[in-house]
Amino acid sequence: MQVVHTVADLRAALSGRNRTAFVPTMGNLHAGHVSLVELAKRHGSPVVASIFVNPLQFGAGEDFERYPRTLAADCDELAAAGCDLVFAPDASALYPVAQTFKVDVPAALADDLCGAFRPGHFAGVATVVLKLFHLVHPQVAVFGRKDYQQLLVVKEMVRQFNLPIDIVAGATLRAPDGLAMSSRNGYLSETERAQAPQLQRELASLAAALGAGARDFAVLAAAARQRLEGAGWRVDYVEIRDATSLKAATRDTRALVVLAAAWLGHTRLIDNLEVTASAAGDAD
Ligand code: PAF
Repeated sequence: MQVVHTVADLRAALSGRNRTAFVPTMGNLHAGHVSLVELAKRHGSPVVASIFVNPLQFGAGEDFERYPRTLAADCDELAAAGCDLVFAPDASALYPVAQTFKVDVPAALADDLCGAFRPGHFAGVATVVLKLFHLVHPQVAVFGRKDYQQLLVVKEMVRQFNLPIDIVAGATLRAPDGLAMSSRNGYLSETERAQAPQLQRELASLAAALGAGARDFAVLAAAARQRLEGAGWRVDYVEIRDATSLKAATRDTRALVVLAAAWLGHTRLIDNLEVTASAAGDAD
């Protein structure tokens, strides 16, 4: 596996390659990332992963500085997973001048859910992803469903800019107790880690109620929120949405997704669960 740090070396390594599958990451890799690399291998070759903690997508007071940088261990994981090439630029390689041109993500996506609590986050994500797409020229790019809103932003950007890239979504990997794998789980204290699976349990019980036909969305979401807050979480949102658009769900919505973001101490966790169309449809 080759590791390159500059745009020139990336271009040289990729010259003549035209079935590239790409997995963008911010490093500090876990089994969820490895599963995305394995998925990428089924869709193209070579498989390229990027490792870059993107300052543009962090707001003031967020965890940009303390986000774990573990390049050597990440490269070992990627090599073992069968990745062919790692692009690990530093900020000056990716942003040689201040990035004043940015992707203008429509407010309906950018300012909703996580975007309402992280202003500018999705513009930062879309901008770095667009740059990486232009540098790597992938035919396929793989994103995890764990970042559900990010996945929709990227899909919509690709669609509206006519980028010739297939976006493939990888399943969320979970610890045996249900906690979605995330680099930020490493911030949790032992006590918080023991409590963290409650987020997934609340989403699972909402998804089960919806699958069984419940449609009083606001009441269900408020009850889940209340249980989390009662247990000490600081909840940004618990929402039941249309899984294809992330717009508010109605009684007629076929595909539903339940999403939540909440804080345990200083750690913000997000998670989501899709409610299958058949379960939702059968229930009514
Ligand atoms: O999901 C992530 O790790 C990041 O948001 C991404 C897509 C690599 C962009 O920085």
